Amino acid sequence: MADVMDKLVSLCKRRGYIYQSSEIYGGLNGCWDYGPLGVELLRNIKETWWRAMTWREDVEGLDASILLHPRVWEASGHVENFTDPLVDCRGCKARFRQDLLTEAQREAGQCPVCGQRGVLTEARAFNLMFKTFVGPVEDDSARVYLRPETAQGIFVNFLNVQAAMRQKLPFGIAQIGKAFRNEINTRNFLFRTREFEQMEMQYFVMPGTEDQWFDYWREQRWQWYRRIGLPEGKLRWHQHLGDELAHYARAAFDVQYEFPFGWGEIEGIHNRGNYDLSQHEKFSGKGLQYFDEQTREKVTACVIETSIGASRTLMATLVEAYREEEVNGEQRVVMRLHPRIAPVKAAVLPLVRRDGMPELARQLVDELRPHLPVFYDEGGAIGRRYRRMDEIGTPYCITIDSQTLQDGTVTLRDRDTMAQDRVAAADLRREIDTRTEAWVAEA
Ligand code: GAP
Repeated sequence: MADVMDKLVSLCKRRGYIYQSSEIYGGLNGCWDYGPLGVELLRNIKETWWRAMTWREDVEGLDASILLHPRVWEASGHVENFTDPLVDCRGCKARFRQDLLTEAQREAGQCPVCGQRGVLTEARAFNLMFKTFVGPVEDDSARVYLRPETAQGIFVNFLNVQAAMRQKLPFGIAQIGKAFRNEINTRNFLFRTREFEQMEMQYFVMPGTEDQWFDYWREQRWQWYRRIGLPEGKLRWHQHLGDELAHYARAAFDVQYEFPFGWGEIEGIHNRGNYDLSQHEKFSGKGLQYFDEQTREKVTACVIETSIGASRTLMATLVEAYREEEVNGEQRVVMRLHPRIAPVKAAVLPLVRRDGMPELARQLVDELRPHLPVFYDEGGAIGRRYRRMDEIGTPYCITIDSQTLQDGTVTLRDRDTMAQDRVAAADLRREIDTRTEAWVAEA
């Protein structure tokens, strides 16, 4: 199974999805760059989330700054609690998160790298926030943190957004943005990185209604995965119990996806109670209560949070899409990405480089391009061109041939079935939209 990950990482580099950060200098651990196709895929996933979350009356959008007042992180509990238990190997000097060691390794103090027993140090709390300084003086008074989650930018703007948009409880605020965590061990490609993107939504509700909204958002979020092509059979819920609960959470469920290396969290849904707004009131000295016009009373809103990693989700879509198939005795690699998120939606291919076909194809590209990301390719045998498109996940190939010159029809080739249908060029947009909406992932 690890083999699949290696092949995927290699395809991602070769075809312009993902590159190692600063590769020519040997790379920087836990950081990745999104190439021309990767950035489109990431944008499409974010757009799908943004529409699902904010194209409704009760959720507003926000884009808060990455650097926040340092007191925010004291109030949120991150300065005190956002730590992982760090252990060192006295033998080979490797470092690990104690909670990721197996029971047996922990008990024997056994290093998972060099295998020596009794060599691990006691665990010490390591804070995952990156620190930096504002202004020219690098002392404690100038210290700030790169945000480890986007959520706090939402909490501190709760009343600003509520007042400006004249929102009433319940309502939510959604945000997409970078987050940074100085992870002890980065691993599994995009799964655990030091710089990543989150898509978070805090839904503010009347105290006493949290359970109902928690269930509502769990259901909404579960449905969303179908829109990006992750099948239900590869997803499951994981409930946090006891020690697993974060310091702010009263209840939490993760959505997990079955990666080649095992089940891994892609989203957390949390009932945060009134922890955050109460803490920010206490630390800032500013009132953050909501005035309920019906009861004429002030209340501290409770929060249901949906928090998903954009980069981790992107990786799940890549893993899910990757297929090796045998076609007429030859192997084809195909990325069965949902057409909604595929970076290139259609390729326009003149069958041959003569008889006016390239000109017609170029004309079609000009017509389609304002509406769809389209790729034009006239180089090489048609079969090879199809394979190139399969490998990057382009759902539709449109071929201009001699019949096109006569009757204005083209062939529309489906990436997944490889079936080719004749379609009037004028109907292509509608046909592609219909097929995209109807597309469902294999179970
Ligand atoms: N505001 C709550 C919060 O941040 P979290 O469970 O720590 O909750 C939410 O993070 C999501 O962010 C995770 O489900 C995961 O998808 C993503 N995420 C967290 N740490 C990550 C990392 N080091 N690399 C990539 N994605 C990460």
